[in-house]
Amino acid sequence: MKVMVYKTAEEIAEAVGRIIIKRVADEPSCAIGFATGASPVPTYEYIVSEFNKGNISFKDMKTFNLDEYCDLPVDDKNSYHTFMHENLFDKIDVQAENINFLDGNAEDYDAESARYAEAIKAAGGIKVQILGIGTNGHIGFNEPADEFTDEAFKVTLTQSTIDSNQKYFGEQAMPRYAMTMGIGSIMRSEEIVLIATGEAKAKAIAAAVNGEVTPQCPASILQNHPNVTFFVDEAAASLLK
Ligand code: F6R
Repeated sequence: MKVMVYKTAEEIAEAVGRIIIKRVADEPSCAIGFATGASPVPTYEYIVSEFNKGNISFKDMKTFNLDEYCDLPVDDKNSYHTFMHENLFDKIDVQAENINFLDGNAEDYDAESARYAEAIKAAGGIKVQILGIGTNGHIGFNEPADEFTDEAFKVTLTQSTIDSNQKYFGEQAMPRYAMTMGIGSIMRSEEIVLIATGEAKAKAIAAAVNGEVTPQCPASILQNHPNVTFFVDEAAASLLK
């Protein structure tokens, strides 16, 4: 596991953005795993700016998002579908048929999990997976638990995640469940880049990097992945040994 410490979120965005752009330039039809939340937004801005300069095309890239809320229409302003379209997909030339999301409103969550696993396999596996990290150490919506998960599943969000994300929903009640890629699906990505900025992430980063590998800190499993880099600012790195 590599940890790269930067001064600003913009420097992180450029470093991670370059990794994605290089991978897509080398393998135009590769699958990239995307995350939502605040952490990757500057990276998406960097990718859009490079696209606008004509430096890269995403017309054959396949996308797989980590997670989606349950019991929320896909076109809700707070869905992760909407987030990705507004922050990235509508601003680049990715093709609609190459965009993949878990269906948070699936009738059969097991069948949905199997469908997603099959789609990832058919796309040749995820080449680069972008991750954020929760203040509780979650990746995707794999909350602290007694066991590491494998394929996608329906999760009950913890109070800590609800407290962190309620701000996006304002007066609207926040969903209590989400469909998320499991730890196994994340770990099968060829390369993983995790972005964390700000003091609020310092404890989770220290536990993930220096702590024991335990499902109580889901991100700690990344210590066992052969190609993972954490891109953090000084505040998020402040408790690292
Ligand atoms: C989002 C996701 C979450 C976030 C995490 C950090 O798709 O899977 O794990 O990455 O909650 O969120 P931010 O970046 O908003 O602090």
